[in-house]
Amino acid sequence: MAIPLLDLVAQHGAVGDDVQRAVAAVVDRQGFIMGPEVATLERRVAELSGARHGIGCASGTDALLLSLRCLDLQPGDEVITPAFTFFATAGAIHNAGGTPVFVDIDPDTFCLDPEAVASAVTSRTRGIVAVHLFGQMAAMGPLMELAGRHDLALIEDAAQAIGARRRMEGSWRVAGSLGTTGTLSFFPTKNLGGWGDGGMILANDDALAERLRRLRLHGGASEYRHEEVGLNSRLDTLQAAVLLAKLPHLADWSALRRSHANHYTEALATCPGVRPPVADQANEHIFHQYTIRAERRDELQGHLARNDVGNKIYYPLALHLQPCFADLGYRRGSLPLTEAAMDEVLSLPIYPELTDSQLNRVISVIREFYG
Ligand SMILES: Cc1ncc(COP(=O)(O)O)c(C=O)c1O
Repeated sequence: MAIPLLDLVAQHGAVGDDVQRAVAAVVDRQGFIMGPEVATLERRVAELSGARHGIGCASGTDALLLSLRCLDLQPGDEVITPAFTFFATAGAIHNAGGTPVFVDIDPDTFCLDPEAVASAVTSRTRGIVAVHLFGQMAAMGPLMELAGRHDLALIEDAAQAIGARRRMEGSWRVAGSLGTTGTLSFFPTKNLGGWGDGGMILANDDALAERLRRLRLHGGASEYRHEEVGLNSRLDTLQAAVLLAKLPHLADWSALRRSHANHYTEALATCPGVRPPVADQANEHIFHQYTIRAERRDELQGHLARNDVGNKIYYPLALHLQPCFADLGYRRGSLPLTEAAMDEVLSLPIYPELTDSQLNRVISVIREFYG
């Protein structure tokens, strides 16, 4: 039985008719740019996230870039971020004119370590980009306190964490609604994925939301008048239609991912050589990825591949060691916890449509490897 890392065809089988109808409505209308579906999706996603504003844009990368553009970074301005994340997080800091400052992670959650952030603050620090990696939220309480104390922007990269929640002071707070802005990705493999690229920025401040709406449309509040230079970064109406048709299923899909994760964790907790992922007690995880730490990881990866079990290393080369950031002066040894993670992690199939027999097959192939 071949088990892919992700099976979007299975999802399409379940919701494809609804999505096709939503797409056909846009096609019949021939209204592809800033159609009503965009505003409806913005409202619904903002609602589910507990944010005042949702601002659709062309990708999760642009959601970060547009957010960072609002910091008006000057050469030499620093933005603190983890190195254990997808490239876009730091690429956007660079492209907005800032210098990424990489700090180490909490080895349990793989998210930013607030104490490491505190040690990295300098007089040039302008902001923090916290990443809610693999579907659970970073320790937002201490990060918000730190940002407040030093008057820093705090951007939540929630590309992998739509709808993830964290209990703070007795109530649930949703990913993307707590920072200066929160950024989402609708890349097809995400928990809520489009039929192409798409993204959204969440914000609570009215003036900031207004500026972001301008920046995604070439910086102009009205046609042919430009207050500042922005981007062409609209969310496609077709993508908004696809996402609106899928959105009612998101909560069930995330619950299924959590249930699969429990199944894996119960079975793998007793497997020598494997450390299952740790969910922070305060978090409700959405398991965008189910990422174990594994002894002899590369050999296990080969064994899984030979047994047709999909898997992937997120991320094999942390951002502080990427060739494009060599001039920042980091070396192997600069971020030991990040480097241990990149040498040990392996993500397993966790998509909602997985069956118990598929889960058990993945578990038995792993158990067989460790004898
Ligand atoms: C943590 C993180 N940040 C940013 C992005 C960028 O999103 P997109 O691919 O939609 O540009 C991604 C997704 O790939 C991501 O996983």
